[in-house]
Amino acid sequence: MKISIFGLGYVGAVSLACLARDGHDVVGIDIDPAKLDLIRAGKTPVVEEGMVELMAKVVAGGKVSVTTDIYRAVLDTDISLICVGTPSAPNGSQDQSAILRICRDLGLAMREKRKPHVFVFRSTLMPGSVEEVLRPIIERESGKRDGVDFHLCFQPEFLREGSSIRDYDKPPFTIVGANGEAPVAVLRDLFGHLPCEFHVTSVRAAEMVKYCCNNFHAMKITFANESARLCEALGVDALEVMDLVCKDRQLNISAAYLKPGFAFGGSCLPKDLRATMYMAKMKDVELPLLGGILPSNRVHADHAIAKVLASGKRRIGMIGLSFKPGTDDLRESPLVLLAEQFIGKGLSLLVYDPEVHLSRLLGANSRFIEEHVPHIGAHLRSDIESVIAESDLLVVGLDDARIFESLERHVRPDQIVLDLVRLPAGVKLRGQVAGLCW
Ligand SMILES: NC(=O)c1ccc[n+]([C@@H]2O[C@H](COP(=O)([O-])OP(=O)(O)OC[C@H]3O[C@@H](n4cnc5c(N)ncnc54)[C@H](O)[C@@H]3O)[C@@H](O)[C@H]2O)c1
Repeated sequence: MKISIFGLGYVGAVSLACLARDGHDVVGIDIDPAKLDLIRAGKTPVVEEGMVELMAKVVAGGKVSVTTDIYRAVLDTDISLICVGTPSAPNGSQDQSAILRICRDLGLAMREKRKPHVFVFRSTLMPGSVEEVLRPIIERESGKRDGVDFHLCFQPEFLREGSSIRDYDKPPFTIVGANGEAPVAVLRDLFGHLPCEFHVTSVRAAEMVKYCCNNFHAMKITFANESARLCEALGVDALEVMDLVCKDRQLNISAAYLKPGFAFGGSCLPKDLRATMYMAKMKDVELPLLGGILPSNRVHADHAIAKVLASGKRRIGMIGLSFKPGTDDLRESPLVLLAEQFIGKGLSLLVYDPEVHLSRLLGANSRFIEEHVPHIGAHLRSDIESVIAESDLLVVGLDDARIFESLERHVRPDQIVLDLVRLPAGVKLRGQVAGLCW
């Protein structure tokens, strides 16, 4: 394939060398003449393991050229990878000046091109950038249409500096955000041989995946470091503890707890987080990440409350009260918080939870109810049918197949259903279903 690469920093230079190694004809474009001179001379513009040898080899093999002529680069190639920097602006937003400038030039070049062209954005971009900001620029400057005369897509880059050639050859996955088959087919040809899964999604989702991955990595590092600072203060071997934490592949290093849902609660997580923060306070250890978890959890519960209030409906039915299916443990259940708020706001509330029978609640569980929703008994119903029948808005907080069957049977088209549990795709309700944030 004939490929042009815009921006020859870490991402662009490594892609250029690896694509040329894989047999493609690659032309590199950068505004920094020093980088172009280095590549012309068979040298690497970035310090990366293996790049000195690889760049010398691919340049000597005649597969690489460099230019500042954007027009020729677009006219003479089939596909462009855009890898310019998108650094932080002083206010924390993304400085897109380089990519905006490039897109104007790419559009002008497309004005003259008679054949279709694929533009692949590899720079990290805030969701919506490609479709709402960059596409209009290229369409305006070229007088041509995305999806007809050219194809825009977004493919986040996952290489890490220091191991970038290895990461290029073995990425965690390939994600392509596109609106049509044409650019996907081209990227399958380019990257389909890599030993990883190839996922196609929307452009916006592909843009966002990059942020979620980087944020997750940053959060993991900070979690380990905060845990280590606390371990140190408590005289515990942090390396040993985190080694053991990492050995749990069922709950710790797995997809468990990583799907969006409702706020957590129950008798363990909140109390243990509180005790952790107390230990840290006693030892003067600052743990901003761990300390932010309970407030964030509360914000999530408040989000559900706000959605219910914003609906304007006053007859609310809650399906589920305990903190998870199969238990009658109400301690710190975020659904109890919801009930408390709805009652406090004067809404009419009915609650169904197959596991919760007030007369059977004992000890701490019973005390929790006494403290938070002492009159909940007046709102509890033993059958789901009447709760559905007498509500305008239903909050589904229980993940249970029998509940879903009842909802499928009894929910009416005029009812709103706020889904806190990610209702399975197969569950078809007649009401207006809204996910909490999905
Ligand atoms: N560095 C990484 O490990 C990494 C990994 C994944 C994603 N990314 C993302 O990829 C993008 C590029 O990152 P990088 O580290 O390679 O950046 P970089 O700063 O190393 O390189 C960017 C290059 O773009 C060039 N450039 C700027 N304006 C230009 C223009 N108008 N025309 C042509 N070239 C221009 C610069 O001269 C520079 O050589 C960023 O969005 C970054 O967030 C980087």
